[in-house]
Amino acid sequence: MLNFQDPQVWWFLTRASAMVGWVLLTLTVVWGVLLKTRILRGADNPEWLTVTHRYISGLALAMILTHMGTLLLDEYISFGWADILVPFATSFEPFAVALGIFAFWAIILVQITALTAKWLPDVVWKGIHLLSYAVIVLVGLHSGLVGTDVGTPWYTAISLVLITTATLAGIVRLVIASREKPAARALAPKASESQEVPPSGFLATVSSKLTHGKNLAEFTLQPNDSSVELEWEAGAHLTLHLGNGLERQYSLSGDPAEPRSLKLGILNTHGEGGGSSWIHESLREGSVIRCDLPRNHFPLKPAKKYQFIASGVGITPIRSMLHSLPASREWSLLYLARTREDMLLADELVEHYGDQVTLWISEERGSRAPLDELIESNAEVYACGSPGLLNALEQLVAPKRLHVERFEPQVRISNGRVTAFEIHASRSGKTISVGGQTNTLEALEEAGLEVSASCRRGTCGTCEVRVLEGTPEHLDSVMSDADKDDLGVMYPCVSRSQTPQLTLEL
Ligand code: FES
Repeated sequence: MLNFQDPQVWWFLTRASAMVGWVLLTLTVVWGVLLKTRILRGADNPEWLTVTHRYISGLALAMILTHMGTLLLDEYISFGWADILVPFATSFEPFAVALGIFAFWAIILVQITALTAKWLPDVVWKGIHLLSYAVIVLVGLHSGLVGTDVGTPWYTAISLVLITTATLAGIVRLVIASREKPAARALAPKASESQEVPPSGFLATVSSKLTHGKNLAEFTLQPNDSSVELEWEAGAHLTLHLGNGLERQYSLSGDPAEPRSLKLGILNTHGEGGGSSWIHESLREGSVIRCDLPRNHFPLKPAKKYQFIASGVGITPIRSMLHSLPASREWSLLYLARTREDMLLADELVEHYGDQVTLWISEERGSRAPLDELIESNAEVYACGSPGLLNALEQLVAPKRLHVERFEPQVRISNGRVTAFEIHASRSGKTISVGGQTNTLEALEEAGLEVSASCRRGTCGTCEVRVLEGTPEHLDSVMSDADKDDLGVMYPCVSRSQTPQLTLEL
């Protein structure tokens, strides 16, 4: 039991809080490095890792404040406010104490900018966050120069462990930083920002454009407004509003832990619609484009083992999933293409993940991939790519294990068992009749119900509505029917009903 009448008690608390604070600070930095380097990051619940990082840093700050507060209360050293807050104000070991004070103010700055990060440009708060490494050095020097326990075996053991751990964390961070590409400069003049942006959207600037071969390009977009809340998970996509009046959806291929860096891999299909051609020809570094907030119709669910299968540009959502996986999770990637030029980021994937990645380039191997031999029997399969690949997988993998994202609509025909049906809209109380020849979404719109829609062909997922009662007949291509039923949603732009009545949350 602590006896607060004992004059030694404050001195004891000063030393104890200093050591615990040092341990927690080191843990905070190590945790941050583990997060940044993806050694600790769970697809299952990535949020708790970040929250834990914040809690540990908050505890470290509480210990430092305790250390400073008890110094004020200790009679032996008789510090005043200026001695603990102003560098070189004290006559007691001024240099060593100043190191601790500099560390304290740096911690305050890091904490404030971390708590206000969503209102600050990334470069500001992330730059200030790097001060954490300086803090660890300052605290180590402060402790070594002014600590009264220096030289005792326990102090020597703890400080050696802490200094070694922090040094290793710093080295890991430096190695990772050296691999990161420098931010691209915006070279081109900015397009007009006077476009009207609805609340669900934002303007973003192209910060880099990297071309791969003749038809592939990777774009990185950054939101112009730092107050835009961007949170998305692996598998999400972004809707772009193109200058030619079209809307197009593209999967986000970046790291969900860096949600403001929106990376898109886009294949120029030279198609009739002209969406991807417009993007390739018109978007360059510095261009501004209107986007909708990310949406996710291809979520990664927790599983013991994953097999990812992609062809061509279908690697984009898979890449964001690989970023999200915990280090210990068992997975493999089968990446298919006709030629190496049809692949995006193949070298990067092999370099990062080694044997877990199998590239199957038909032209080099002399044959197409024998999917029936390559599919793993006990893994959840996540696939994105050409219609041929996804159709083949649907024949080979049980629906419960297969999760797909399609770019092109499947040809799906109603079984015709229920031709006309009624929709009860639970919120508005309206009842809508959908005739045999009527499109479900159009019937809802004619009844005055607001349903967002974009592609109107069952691929983008914008028109998603919740099904409360009844059984929809899924005719869309957004995700597997099993996943839609698990989530209790349908896409009325192409889908219908298998029961005479459907109750939708509208
Ligand atoms: S509007 Fe695109 S899926 Fe319905």
